[in-house]
Amino acid sequence: METDRQAHWLHPLTAVNYARAAVQVGLWKSEESLITQYFKPEAHLLELGCGGGRVGLGLWQRGYQYLTITDFSPVMIEMTRGVFQQMAPNHRARIEIANACSLQYANESFDGVIFAFNGLMCLRGREDREKALPEIYRVLKKEGFFIFTANDREKGENTREWAVEPIPPKGEKGDRWHETDSTPVFMHSSTEYETLAELKTAGFKTLQSKLRSELVSENAVVKNFAGETRFYVAQKI
Ligand SMILES: C[S@@+](CC[C@H](N)C(=O)[O-])C[C@H]1O[C@@H](n2cnc3c(N)ncnc32)[C@H](O)[C@@H]1O
Repeated sequence: METDRQAHWLHPLTAVNYARAAVQVGLWKSEESLITQYFKPEAHLLELGCGGGRVGLGLWQRGYQYLTITDFSPVMIEMTRGVFQQMAPNHRARIEIANACSLQYANESFDGVIFAFNGLMCLRGREDREKALPEIYRVLKKEGFFIFTANDREKGENTREWAVEPIPPKGEKGDRWHETDSTPVFMHSSTEYETLAELKTAGFKTLQSKLRSELVSENAVVKNFAGETRFYVAQKI
């Protein structure tokens, strides 16, 4: 049964869960290692799909000063503001609504864009990704980096299930509704080949596409919050 593919992200219980993760899970070791490798502390960074502020808060706490932390969901933005108020009351981050498919920022505004924990795959499907990727490319400065993850249906934890998963009537292979403890969530799980092709179409050069487990070993809290996923580092050329 098809329902609103974005409703999950507008639900207060979802937002509370992501705010809890901001405080209890924090920045993953894998995220920290790539972010510090590609972004200097003085970089102007745009975070898309911030949820409850988990990555944004981690960045602020690690000395990144020029942060624009965004989500399309007003309830997520309220949660993120609350988390920052409690955890980093003197912060100077911009925390505001932005839809990845239609960004309000000028061309070449940012040194880097981050869409953490499979956010790009939480859009409504391929058409949305085909809007979001050129938007991300547009707002990046030349040679700027885009870091994100995507659940890999060939190399992840549910490879066998994915092999027999039917293609949904109004979607493509990899589109699926998943149960959660708030409301069902619509997500796409890609293959590395497919995501590399989407990045190339948008004009990006991919620098890295490693599974999280190939980068570092995460602790149990992180693994419990988020299963295996593939990190992509792409550059505007
Ligand atoms: C899996 S959550 C990740 C949250 C957060 N980045 C984290 O790692 O904890 C995906 C996020 O993408 C956001 N999102 C979904 N569609 C979006 C869109 N069109 N534009 C911006 N953000 C979107 C959701 O509201 C949600 O906060």
